[in-house]
Amino acid sequence: MPVRRVGAWKDRARRAVDAVVALSMPNGRSVAAPLLLVDGYLYPHEAVFLYWVARSAPVDGVVVEVGSMRGRSTLCLAAGTRDGGRERVYAVDPHRYGTSDELCENLAHFGLTGHVEVVVDESITIALRWHNPVRAVFVDGDHSFEAAYADVILWSQHLAPGGFLLLHDSTELNGFNGPRQVASVFCHVGVLFDKIGTIGSITWARRKGGADWSPPEHGKWVVDGIMSSLKWLRRPTTGLYT
Ligand SMILES: C[S@@+](CC[C@H](N)C(=O)[O-])C[C@H]1O[C@@H](n2cnc3c(N)ncnc32)[C@H](O)[C@@H]1O
Repeated sequence: MPVRRVGAWKDRARRAVDAVVALSMPNGRSVAAPLLLVDGYLYPHEAVFLYWVARSAPVDGVVVEVGSMRGRSTLCLAAGTRDGGRERVYAVDPHRYGTSDELCENLAHFGLTGHVEVVVDESITIALRWHNPVRAVFVDGDHSFEAAYADVILWSQHLAPGGFLLLHDSTELNGFNGPRQVASVFCHVGVLFDKIGTIGSITWARRKGGADWSPPEHGKWVVDGIMSSLKWLRRPTTGLYT
C-alpha cells in the first residue's frame, strides 16, 4: 500500500530534514521513514521520544493515543511497541477531517497494522468506558482548554503506576494556549505525579508508584535550541514586538 503524497515541495523538504535529524539519534532509523513520508506536526526528537516511551517504559499496559490524524505519531508509538514486544497502541480519533483511511493505509505500508487498534470515536467516550491499565497516553486531540483538560483528567486515572502522560503542544516551543494552560495547572510533582519533564512541545509526567525510570530525551538541547532560535529569528523586528 503506497503512502499518499501530501503537501508541496516545502513540506517534503521539511519531512526530509526531520528524517535526517531523527537518524542522528539512537534508534532514529525506526521512525525516519514515517517522518519522511507521513505529514504531521511532530518534531523529529519528539518522534524518537515517543518511540522510546512506547518501547521501554517499565510498566505493563497498552499505549493510548488521543488524536492520530494520518498517523505520524501513531507510527512512532507502534514502532516502539513492535521493537519492544510490548502491548499494542489504541489510536483514538473521530477523524473529523476524514483521515481514517489514510491512517490505516499508512499503518499497512509500514507493516504496523497488527500493533495498532484504530478506534474511530471521541476520546472522552472511550475514556469513560475504559478498564485496562495504560503504560502511556499521548494527548494530541482537540486543543481547546476544556477538551485537553478532560483528556488528561480522564486518561491519567487509567495510567498504571509509573505510566506516562504525554501532552503535545503544551510548551513554549510551538505551544497552543489550551494544552499549555492544562500543563501549567495539571502537570506538577505532587499527589498524582512524581516526575515531570519537557521535550520539544511535549510535557511529560510520570504517575507515582512505579519504577524510577525516565524516558531518554535525545536531541532535547540541540533541537529545542535550534527551534527556539528559529522562532526568535522569524519574529518581526518592528511592530508588536518592539
Ligand atoms: C493535531 S492532529 C493529531 C496529529 C497526530 N498526532 C500526528 O502526529 O500527526 C489532531 C487530531 O485530533 C483529532 N481529534 C479532535 N477531537 C478529538 C477528540 N475529541 N478525541 C480524539 N481525537 C480528536 C482530530 O480529528 C485530529 O485528527
